[in-house]
Amino acid sequence: MRKYILLNPGPVNIKENVRRALLTPDICHREPEFERLFMRCRKKILKAFGITASHDVVFFTGSGAAALEAAVISSVPQKKKILVINNGIYAERITEIAKRYGIGVIDLKFKITEGPDLSIAEGNLKRNKDISLVAMVHHETSTGLLNPVDEIGKLCKKYKKLYLLDSVSALVGEELDFNEVGIDLCVGAVNKGIESIPGISFVLINKGIVARLERVRPRSLYFDIPSNLKAQKKGETIFTPAVQGFYALDIALNELIKEGVQKRLRRYKDIAALLRKGFVEAGLKYLIAPEYHSNTITALYLPKGLTYQKLHDALKKKGFVIYAGQSKLRDVIFRIANMGQITQKDMLRFLKSLKAVLSRT
Ligand SMILES: Cc1ncc(COP(=O)(O)O)c(C=O)c1O
Repeated sequence: MRKYILLNPGPVNIKENVRRALLTPDICHREPEFERLFMRCRKKILKAFGITASHDVVFFTGSGAAALEAAVISSVPQKKKILVINNGIYAERITEIAKRYGIGVIDLKFKITEGPDLSIAEGNLKRNKDISLVAMVHHETSTGLLNPVDEIGKLCKKYKKLYLLDSVSALVGEELDFNEVGIDLCVGAVNKGIESIPGISFVLINKGIVARLERVRPRSLYFDIPSNLKAQKKGETIFTPAVQGFYALDIALNELIKEGVQKRLRRYKDIAALLRKGFVEAGLKYLIAPEYHSNTITALYLPKGLTYQKLHDALKKKGFVIYAGQSKLRDVIFRIANMGQITQKDMLRFLKSLKAVLSRT
């Protein structure tokens, strides 16, 4: 049942059959029924992204931040460093994770409204021989900015570094050729482009680096990738998983495979184009230049005289949930995401409502 149309960047509106899957009978996660369900999810997620031969998956019961924490702390050996391409709030979080675990971090800060300066990134990779991992956010959810995944991938290959991509808000919505780019660890959550319910996140991991990760001294019991992966390959989970979440994920993955990642990406992209045409007509101004726009989030300045709360409440009354800016951008922008089960017709209705609210201010 869809009470509101969610224009926040996940959780997204999901299909009825995904929601209904939550009502399947209670099962114990140590029984063969769960093992079969879990193995199906493992197989299907790799199939959906076409990476069965090259990558494996490790699931975590937890939001996107859980898998991100696991990826960071499982892949940097003692005395080695992580280089973070930092041009937004989610990149900031990667730095914060590393710091909290005492992992050496080179935090390369760039403007939040632009892509990173590649020559600065390369200079650092050349100078600092102790970097073992480069981490970047694929799509900065805080601004809607798409980062140069391929270019950073080339640098990682050139300087032989592991490449971690936080693709939590980009997977499905953006083009990503895992093998061409050389993605070693790709972090995702199931409640965005995969269109399932929140509570499960995952790391897609290049099979060729697993042995390297096994040599890193574990920093955490729950978030250790090699031990979780070892169990999960046998259909087991070390800890209690979100059983019902996997029922929903199983169906959501069927839907993703049926629609196809490319077609879903196209669906999101077309909706973003329709929305952006409407935003321009309404006289709204973008936070970042269109050349950096992702397919799924648009950050817009709040018009003069209109607070976020007023805009949010007026639109919610009409059935639409929009999203605020974060941190320093809280009172400056609002964000419109376009993932999940929303249609062009829904968005035409949304634009009409938005224009009506704006015309009253
Ligand atoms: C790019 C990115 N990374 C990490 C996260 C953290 O995910 P969660 O809030 O599900 O923990 C998010 C959440 O939206 C995100 O957009």
